[in-house]
Amino acid sequence: MNTDTIETSEPATMPNETIRTLLERRSIRGFADEPIPEETAALLELTAQHAATSRYFNEWSAIRVTDPALAAAIAEEAHQGYIAHAPLLYIFLADQRRNADLITAEDPQVSEEDERFILKTSYAFLQAQNDAVLALHAMETAANSLGLGCVILGSVLNDPDRLVDLLHLPKLVYPVLGLAIGKPSQDPSLKPRMPRPAQIFKNSYQRPSEAEIAQVVSDFDQSVFRYYRDVRHMDAPRKTFSQIMADKAFSPADGHSPMLPSIQAQGFDFDK
Ligand SMILES: Cc1cc2nc3c(=O)[nH]c(=O)nc-3n(C[C@H](O)[C@H](O)[C@H](O)COP(=O)(O)O)c2cc1C
Repeated sequence: MNTDTIETSEPATMPNETIRTLLERRSIRGFADEPIPEETAALLELTAQHAATSRYFNEWSAIRVTDPALAAAIAEEAHQGYIAHAPLLYIFLADQRRNADLITAEDPQVSEEDERFILKTSYAFLQAQNDAVLALHAMETAANSLGLGCVILGSVLNDPDRLVDLLHLPKLVYPVLGLAIGKPSQDPSLKPRMPRPAQIFKNSYQRPSEAEIAQVVSDFDQSVFRYYRDVRHMDAPRKTFSQIMADKAFSPADGHSPMLPSIQAQGFDFDK
């Protein structure tokens, strides 16, 4: 990296519990069979509601899945069986429906077909998605701070149309991510992160030279290799980060169909 890079030092001590919660965060994929008290769930939901929201539009929602049959169907769609039994399971949504309904209630003359209606534009969709992600992350951090474990679930979008059906999502609502929460029944070690200068730049994008890439590859790749070597899990790839990326970036097994059609079917117009 050039001289204008971020320093790499890690904190010698944890300045406070918030920093500790963030730096010790890891995904938890096994939960004790213990329900989460309603007061705790309510507190977590409140923290999500206090996340920042673009333009104060509050353009996200979340569905707490409490119906075991629905949770099982979502787990099946996500190919992640354990989430059917997660003590708490949320699906976060990009949601312009509520504001559209509020507008219509205010003035029944307005039409969502009006050229000036902006809640279905690509920008509105992306900002609603940002809102949902920030709310989810606030909930995840709050849960972690209480000693609970979480896993974020992009896999709930394996078949977005099915999820839309399962959750009865109306037009202008689209699923973003799932979040499973519970008391951890496992204690995985922290997954390595890249050297900070490789990921955080000053002032402009700093594409590393071949020599710098080689350095990142040798250090980070080896720590990822060691991480997976030490994980006692049958499915753990015995590979470096570069090898994992090379596999995944060209993987026909990714299995995701293009998402634009299902987003458009929910009423968003990416030409606008
Ligand atoms: C947007 C997003 C989607 C994710 N989807 C899944 C998922 O579907 N299933 C899963 O097991 N983990 C999922 N994860 C968790 C990542 O695999 C995990 O964060 C990553 O491997 C780093 O590990 P760590 O969280 O333990 O640090 C997701 C994370 C993010 C941010």
